[in-house]
Amino acid sequence: MKFKGKKILIGISGGIAAYKICWLIRSIRKQGGEVKVIVTRAGEKFVTKTTIEALSGNPAATDLFEPAPGGVIPHIELARWADCFLIAPATANILAKTVNGIADDLLSTTILSYPDPVIFAPAMNDEMWKNEVTRRNLKIIRKSKHSIIEPESGDLACETVGIGRMAEPEYLEEKICQFLDISSELTGRRILITAGGTEENIDPVRFIGNRSSGKMGFALAGAAMNRGAEVTVIAGHCTAEAPANIKIIEALSAKDMKKQVIDHLCENDVLIMAAAVADFRPAERAKSKIKKEELTGLTLELERTDDILASLKDTRKGKIIVGFALETNDGIRNARKKLKDKDLDIIVLNDPLKKGSGFGSDTNRITIFEKGKKKETELPLMTKYEAARHIFDRVINLLK
Ligand SMILES: Cc1cc2nc3c(=O)[nH]c(=O)nc-3n(C[C@H](O)[C@H](O)[C@H](O)COP(=O)(O)O)c2cc1C
Repeated sequence: MKFKGKKILIGISGGIAAYKICWLIRSIRKQGGEVKVIVTRAGEKFVTKTTIEALSGNPAATDLFEPAPGGVIPHIELARWADCFLIAPATANILAKTVNGIADDLLSTTILSYPDPVIFAPAMNDEMWKNEVTRRNLKIIRKSKHSIIEPESGDLACETVGIGRMAEPEYLEEKICQFLDISSELTGRRILITAGGTEENIDPVRFIGNRSSGKMGFALAGAAMNRGAEVTVIAGHCTAEAPANIKIIEALSAKDMKKQVIDHLCENDVLIMAAAVADFRPAERAKSKIKKEELTGLTLELERTDDILASLKDTRKGKIIVGFALETNDGIRNARKKLKDKDLDIIVLNDPLKKGSGFGSDTNRITIFEKGKKKETELPLMTKYEAARHIFDRVINLLK
């Protein structure tokens, strides 16, 4: 089910190769993906709406002025919906319209409204392909944020042999996987990730918390799922949005988080402790809200929370354990010490005070330390998702 949770928008323009897209729609759906299709007027001459609707399980979108379900403007709704947008077959006409910003039907208007790169799989007669204007248009698209899946050389529908045959649908599927960063390196593996920050209650309405948003934990979860792993997230307080289709177990306090990690570790191969777990909690939790008057001069007595990793004992044997070190000073020394003291396989150091790093940010600047390796790897500023990919590259190596 490699496409589980993924939303793929396919634009079919008017070429013979449109019939090949029926296989692609079916294959994506069989592997858990959701597919919506926009078909041009010319495209409808080659595949019917009935076929598209039966295969995709969604209405075939054709009309710019036909409101989408819920009364939303269709080109905006579809552009917002899609994780990946493939135009296949892409006619010489749709390439020309894209280059010139022409938006005179639903497909071309959606292309113009789509904020991310669009993938074009051109198909056409070899003379159309060789035409100076088409070559110029292709050159402009190749230089833009969009990409072209090059057509193959071979027998063409117009009974000639030459370049212009659309890439096979299996190859288009591979390209969609690459675009969505889907692979199978972690298929069959189970990964447990803690995310967010813990809350330690002072009374029923107040708590001691931290600024963790859960973004790093969720980025790890998304990257692991894209590589085929079965992922469980034990989530504290999170302000970030969780990836779709993820199994989440809520554990708000350090004590709850410890319990959930102990309960679930045995069925997982890897544990990644990305949550910011409180080191201290109020020694006493008031049963009812502490009154304002009682707060004057109030002293909170704190006690240590349990170290989750130290509580795992035998259950952690044979598992790969990844920890995070959030340090604002002396990071390298502290991370190395934590790697050794907690017997981790990997520790990821980040400094929330560095620009673009830390809580709530979409980016991070991490340094990765591995057990038995003298030299750490310092990575530049990158998105949390990219940082997660780097961490999994190492985890995959250890799992081999
Ligand atoms: C039988 C037939 C096959 C066609 N095949 C292609 C093709 O493979 N590639 C292409 O660019 N145009 C092809 N065309 C021409 C397009 O359908 C035509 O340029 C149309 O206006 C494209 O509209 P669209 O881009 O909105 O789908 C074909 C036309 C016919 C009649």
